[in-house]
Amino acid sequence: MDDALAEWLRLREVADWTARSAPLAHQVADRLPTERPVRVLDLATGTGSNLRYLMTRLPSPQHWLLVDRSAGLLRLLGERTSAWAASRGYRVEPIDRGLAVRGSSLACVVETRILDLNLPLAEELFAGRHLVTASALLDLVSEAWLTALAGRCRTSGAAALFALSYDGRSAFSPPEPDDEWVRTLLNQHQHRDKGLGGPAAGPSAHLTARQCFLAAGFSCRDAPTDWSIGPDEEALQRQFIEGLAAAAVEERPDAGDAVAAWLTRRLAHLAGGQSRATVGHHDLAAWLSGT
Ligand SMILES: C[S@@+](CC[C@H](N)C(=O)[O-])C[C@H]1O[C@@H](n2cnc3c(N)ncnc32)[C@H](O)[C@@H]1O
Repeated sequence: MDDALAEWLRLREVADWTARSAPLAHQVADRLPTERPVRVLDLATGTGSNLRYLMTRLPSPQHWLLVDRSAGLLRLLGERTSAWAASRGYRVEPIDRGLAVRGSSLACVVETRILDLNLPLAEELFAGRHLVTASALLDLVSEAWLTALAGRCRTSGAAALFALSYDGRSAFSPPEPDDEWVRTLLNQHQHRDKGLGGPAAGPSAHLTARQCFLAAGFSCRDAPTDWSIGPDEEALQRQFIEGLAAAAVEERPDAGDAVAAWLTRRLAHLAGGQSRATVGHHDLAAWLSGT
């Protein structure tokens, strides 16, 4: 099932929240209604990191629809959100098809839906939304998908916030001679078709998304939101490094020995408590004038 992805999403949640652009989130929040429930659509929710990050930053009350193709990841969302809420003094209760999170200044109804987000994007998902959002998604989708997304947001008049799109940059300390070669192979691999409308936009996703939203009449702002992860985040770094190696071998099956040698050297730096990594991401916000 999705055990490996669920663990990856758990490991990256703190690094994601540390990296995300709070100013962009606030600029979007300032454009949302305060006199009626804010209706939010979160695309490819996974286990709910984007919900937990944004819930306390948006006006309340809120009504979220969270969609993902993975029933297993959506099942974990309740558990992870309950633990998060308990640590902040919020109450969580199950409701039909989701959960409700309540606190002294927070009232949030969360509905989940298992859905494949391949094209065409259903108009019904977007109708009446004030905000369409996603995190760690855009690099998986195609240009055609981004064009369709911008069109749906335009029709519904929704603002948009897309966090943590991988932008093709990464660097390690201490460096290894093959770091750049492996990164180049990863970036080629990123363009493979992920089932979201064709070959993925990959590292250029945030730029392509910006062009699509500008073409649809939106004002756009973006911000670099790089991970900077140190020796303390050993498990996250390990998964990132192993993921790089796996993608590199898939891209160059004939270079398995060289990739394995690179992996061994990188993991030795990690085991020695020496390894640091930066990974380039971008957040993108978009809104229509007058909102
Ligand atoms: C990198 S994860 C990001 C999850 C979450 N947004 C976060 O930031 O933790 C990508 C998510 O996209 C979902 N996904 C991939 N392809 C999909 C598709 N065709 N339809 C719906 N969800 C999809 C995966 O199940 C996964 O939850």
